[in-house]
Amino acid sequence: MRVEGMEDRPFIPTEYVVRLARTPWECAGYHALRREVFCTEQHVFADDDRDATDAVAIPIIAACCMAGMPDRIVGAVRIHEAEPGIWRGSRLAVHADHRKLGRIGAELIRMAVSTAHGLGATRFMAQVQEQNVPFFRRLHWKSLGAITLHGLPHHDMQADLSRYPAHRQDQTWLLRPQPRQYSRQQLRNRQVA
Ligand SMILES: CC(C)(COP(=O)(O)OP(=O)(O)OC[C@H]1O[C@@H](n2cnc3c(N)ncnc32)[C@H](O)[C@@H]1OP(=O)(O)O)[C@@H](O)C(=O)NCCC(=O)NCCS
Repeated sequence: MRVEGMEDRPFIPTEYVVRLARTPWECAGYHALRREVFCTEQHVFADDDRDATDAVAIPIIAACCMAGMPDRIVGAVRIHEAEPGIWRGSRLAVHADHRKLGRIGAELIRMAVSTAHGLGATRFMAQVQEQNVPFFRRLHWKSLGAITLHGLPHHDMQADLSRYPAHRQDQTWLLRPQPRQYSRQQLRNRQVA
């Protein structure tokens, strides 16, 4: 029986935090999420997406909070200085259940670029999967050209640093999701997934 006034939407946490990963728990969640997205979901890598860049990269996470405390890592990205002044971002991932909810992807990109800017970046680049190029364009990135990476179409893209003010590494941002109205089909898809 349906309770009158029952809301037609899945559980949505009230808060996310975005910051540099600092604890072993955060780093473990960051790697687990990357594995889930790039190995299990996208099959870009067989069973481990880690590479030499991890030894020098700064990990950034988004955590979903319960009762004000970080409960689960649901977003990840890493940044590293590839050449003096030239920084790169990679392995951007948001857990499938938390996409298009709290602007987590957009805020991870903002944290990534602004942190690198604060560390002296004069250029910030990323190799972006083709389906995400419009998303990055909306966030003030431009394409420098199409490339193939891991056998998949990508674009080499560069952020407009003037849109990403430099900040220090101790920033923590709180995100409050704005629940959207879901269609019945979207709800059905979520339940099947
Ligand atoms: C790409 C990804 C990180 C986006 O994360 P997200 O948390 O869903 O993104 P956001 O909620 O911040 O999106 C912000 C806005 O961009 C839109 N958007 C998100 N992904 C988009 C895409 N691929 N193309 C166009 N627009 C997109 C959202 O609808 C939202 O629009 P709105 O503000 O008008 O509602 C996520 O879909 C993901 O992890 N995908 C799988 C892994 C992947 O592709 N990684 C990137 C490798 S380059």
